[in-house]
Amino acid sequence: MTAATVLQTSLSDLKLARRGKVRDVYEVDDDSLLIVATDRISAFDCILPTPIERKGEVLTALSEFWFEKLQHVVANHLIESDVDKMPPVVQRHAQTLKGRAMLVRRADVFPVECVVRGYLVGSGWKDYLRTGSVCGHKLPEGLPESAKLPEAIFTPSTKAEQGHDENITEDQVRELIGEEKTALLRDTSLRLFSEAHDYARQRGIIIADTKFEFGLGKDGQLLLVDEVLTPDSSRFWPADEYEPGRSQPSFDKQFVRDYLETLNWDKKPPAPAIPSEIAAATTARYLEAYRLLTGKEL
Ligand SMILES: Nc1ncnc2c1ncn2[C@@H]1O[C@H](COP(=O)(O)OP(=O)(O)O)[C@@H](O)[C@H]1O
Ligand SMILES: [Mg+2]
Repeated sequence: MTAATVLQTSLSDLKLARRGKVRDVYEVDDDSLLIVATDRISAFDCILPTPIERKGEVLTALSEFWFEKLQHVVANHLIESDVDKMPPVVQRHAQTLKGRAMLVRRADVFPVECVVRGYLVGSGWKDYLRTGSVCGHKLPEGLPESAKLPEAIFTPSTKAEQGHDENITEDQVRELIGEEKTALLRDTSLRLFSEAHDYARQRGIIIADTKFEFGLGKDGQLLLVDEVLTPDSSRFWPADEYEPGRSQPSFDKQFVRDYLETLNWDKKPPAPAIPSEIAAATTARYLEAYRLLTGKEL
């Protein structure tokens, strides 16, 4: 199947609630939203003009896979991912949406990005070099870059409307949402990460870190929302190339980043296009991540 790529959607008769870096979100009715994963890709925080064929499909199918696999830990917002079973106002756009859309329960989303880190990388590594801690978690001395942490840590951040999310302490989360909810989000996030990490590790992928979002449903039930454990919300590393003491190749975006590094681009928008063979190789990586994690071809 070669579905057409989708860089941006504008669905008539549906109100656009938000256009994120990768996903377009629509209001369907008072109770539900439609989350559409496009084929946009970002690198160095900029959206590229080149679509990655099938990326939206992979993101959607992977989130769906994890929602099901982890539903014994926490309920989630997914109502339906089969466009043919969605309300008529959505079905009308089936050709655009097939495979890349989720009808979800609207939730009152907590203003906290629930980040869990299992390895020493990115801002965590920088934090550790400077302070010996990551977001206030004291760690053993002498850990190399990309080291597996003795245990995964909860390192929440704000949900910035614009620009970069800012790391906050658990105390600051308590001030935002209270003691009880903080403990609930932390413990749930750590359980989700632990299960997903151990599962993925056996299948050749290291989930180095990830970001969850939670909300409360209409009845006050805790719901896992947004996307879950995709390459866009997580760092995936190929397990067979894992080697502490250096930075690790990114499972999905390495070809794109490597290519962009050969250019004279200042990493500010507008981002340059990437050649079709780099885009195709990236599609193959997304499909491989899906195949490894689920054991199925998409
Ligand atoms: N079930 C839900 N109810 C309400 N809002 C949700 C739900 N699931 C996800 N969201 C919100 O939808 C938005 C999706 O935007 P996103 O694609 O993440 O943009 P960005 O690229 O800025 O992160 C997020 O703000 C997320 O919190
Ligand atoms: Mg987001």
